[in-house]
Amino acid sequence: MSSIVIVGAQWGDEGKGKVVDLVTERAELVVRYAGGPNAGHTLVVGGEKLIVRLVPSGILQPHSVCAMAQGMVIDPAVLVGEIAALTQRGIKTSGRLFISDRAHIILPHHILIDGLREGSTGVQKLGTTKKGIGPCYEDKAARRGLRFADLADLGRARALVARSLEAWAPTISALGGAVPDVASVMESVETHAAQLLPLVTDTSILVDDAQRAGKRMVFEGAQGILLDLDHGTYPFVTSSSAVAGGACTGAGIGPTRLTRVVGITKAYATRVGEGPFPTELNDEVGERLRQRGVEFGSVTGRPRRTGWLDIPALRYAARVSGVDAWAITKLDVLTGLETIEVCTGYETPAGKTTELPAALEGARPVYTSLPGWTEEIGSARRLEELPKNARDFVRFIEEKTNAEAYLVSVGPGREETIAVRDVWG
Ligand code: IMP
Repeated sequence: MSSIVIVGAQWGDEGKGKVVDLVTERAELVVRYAGGPNAGHTLVVGGEKLIVRLVPSGILQPHSVCAMAQGMVIDPAVLVGEIAALTQRGIKTSGRLFISDRAHIILPHHILIDGLREGSTGVQKLGTTKKGIGPCYEDKAARRGLRFADLADLGRARALVARSLEAWAPTISALGGAVPDVASVMESVETHAAQLLPLVTDTSILVDDAQRAGKRMVFEGAQGILLDLDHGTYPFVTSSSAVAGGACTGAGIGPTRLTRVVGITKAYATRVGEGPFPTELNDEVGERLRQRGVEFGSVTGRPRRTGWLDIPALRYAARVSGVDAWAITKLDVLTGLETIEVCTGYETPAGKTTELPAALEGARPVYTSLPGWTEEIGSARRLEELPKNARDFVRFIEEKTNAEAYLVSVGPGREETIAVRDVWG
């Protein structure tokens, strides 16, 4: 296996930071292909937690080159802050961190609009991270976005910023905001341009060179498949391609070159922000999952909604992304539950189904009850060391989704992992 895509198979926050960190131990190139600072990947550096939102998690491996590809939207101020935080902790970024010249830049008014919309009563609230993701991708689709390549010509950059501001001005005013002027937006762009320009390159060449040289590559997804613009629980989704195929469009690698798709799923489910979540638990079991699983947003600090694992959703996610290997995270969080419910189908107004309906409103989950276990499992390093009911739970996921578990995480530490199979094998 030489090019692995790692995707979240739920609504984000599946534990990508830890899984990418483990998988990239043997990767020479790590590429993030979608999203922006709405993601929050928790890394542990020298025993200290560090949350990166833009820089690929592979940055912790000194031998890995990391690229932020053209499918991403990047806030220059956030990126400069992350580089400083990494440098402060002794992690070298120069010569090993690159930005695609085609990646789009999040501008201050994108963040302003995202916040105004979320705060407004007249607009459908999505519960976004308010990082400007949606408006930046909207500018990209409207073909007036500012890309890193444009920073080399500030006259051209200024014209694009002016077009964007002109297009957004009526919306900003209607939402009660003050329209910023071109000069102030340009000032913020120029503040970081000098520092970031040396990192800007055609990252598709890095990918192609690595592929030709037979190097190991990891394509790191952000958010989760159920938040994908095309395949997620629309309209409560993010604005980018979170599916594995997003690696092809977002990083410029041909579909035939990808050799494995690792899907990450928690042993239960969580969601932040608005949108349907049929297996949500608004009771003491949900609260228990939140507390034991420390389910609070790493970017926004919001408490995450918690619920039971949803097999139709997982099978759907595996199907639309070609998941052939699972990384099951947070299995230890389920310890102590007498019974574990798993959604295996839905009752919908149109009848019973075992598939994920496109419209989840009105869909009621049908559960299969599985017996829980009481033993703490954090020290297990082999599947055989898990209690039988925990092993059966893993087996149940594998059987219902037609994909095997490669990694099972039993605690937050990188050593608290059961490597069932070799993802590079
Ligand atoms: P946006 O990506 O900020 O536009 O937010 C759109 C939706 O995606 C909201 O429901 C967010 O809570 C959700 N979302 C975006 N990024 C993440 C993430 O990294 N983890 C979990 N949810 C996310």
